Amino acid sequence: MSGRFISLEGGEGAGKSTQARRLAEALRSRGLAVVVTREPGGSEGAEAIRALLLHGAQNRWSARSEALLFAAARADHVEKTIRPAIDSGAWVICDRYLDSSRAYQGLAGGIDDAAILALHGFGSHGLLPDRTFVLEVPVEQGRARAESRDGAAADRFAARGDAFHADVAAAFRRFATREPARFRVIDAATDPDSVTRALLAGLADLLP
Ligand code: TMP
Repeated sequence: MSGRFISLEGGEGAGKSTQARRLAEALRSRGLAVVVTREPGGSEGAEAIRALLLHGAQNRWSARSEALLFAAARADHVEKTIRPAIDSGAWVICDRYLDSSRAYQGLAGGIDDAAILALHGFGSHGLLPDRTFVLEVPVEQGRARAESRDGAAADRFAARGDAFHADVAAAFRRFATREPARFRVIDAATDPDSVTRALLAGLADLLP
């Protein structure tokens, strides 16, 4: 039996990591095997690339270099972690995936969506999630949550201005509108229990 692949997307401070854990617990309580992972990262090589991407000066990488590094990290993550887990029958919950590259490096970073998808085709054989949730919170609320969590340790992306993050939010919304079979938009500005319930409801057609 093949597993399923779920990604959680959204801007900064949307609660993706918390919800990935909560959703995993809910699925495990239904008897499913679940692997929770994240991007950039999720395999040894990809975690090493994560450190290169998130830290250092704002101008350390151009959007093109970033797109290549994220695609390389993703290729390793898919090959070493995601694909084997799906093949073993597990449900994989990934905190960010391809659509973060399409939003941050693509729409907000000025790179063509087709170019990001071409890199993904080469690096990861174009593997797409069965379902992608966009967790939406107003940009200011997300920034406040991320700041209280990370303090001065904001990474290169979180440190960008509200205009950049508004472009990221608009990108996720656009993908969801254009690819309704894969995407579900979730209001994440509410309490964590309601968000987890909405995620489970959004998986109803995939659950055994
Ligand atoms: P996070 O672990 O707090 O989500 O941080 C990861 C950051 O990297 C976040 O600001 C979004 C950014 N990112 C991209 O720009 N492109 C990508 O493909 C991924 C996976 C993340």
